[in-house]
Amino acid sequence: HPTETEISAIIEAHLPLEGPLLPMLHALQEAFGHVPAAAHAAICDTLNITKAELHGVISFYHDFRDAPAGRHVVKICRAEACQAMGGAALAENLLAKLGLDWHGTTRNGVVTIEPVYCLGLCACAPAAMVDDRVVGRVDAAKLDKLLAEAGA
Ligand code: FES
Repeated sequence: HPTETEISAIIEAHLPLEGPLLPMLHALQEAFGHVPAAAHAAICDTLNITKAELHGVISFYHDFRDAPAGRHVVKICRAEACQAMGGAALAENLLAKLGLDWHGTTRNGVVTIEPVYCLGLCACAPAAMVDDRVVGRVDAAKLDKLLAEAGA
């Protein structure tokens, strides 16, 4: 668990920046793999913003997590071209099957499912990404195989 000292060191290091909030959040996520809830109060106090404002920023930028991710991250494209090609149903079925919401991690802590908004692979929709690898023309069978490989 991130300690208070570690958290305040990161917050203070970014204070001199103009528009310190985003770099601060990125640095926290870099250090801890997520933006720890324990940092929220200190960020709000230091930057004089409300919890609601902070929450708005964290949830607006899809890259920020509020919990550590699993060992593997599977991103499913939720942008238009992929939605039109069955991506929405694919994602819904997957989440239902794993019993997760977006950003959720499987109970064994191995795989996190994240939304992503266009992977530049629209011609091969629906698209997904497993860690650093993009995959096109994903269907339920392909997705099952990718998850099995990842150890979900
Ligand atoms: Fe999914 Fe572009 S819309 S890759």
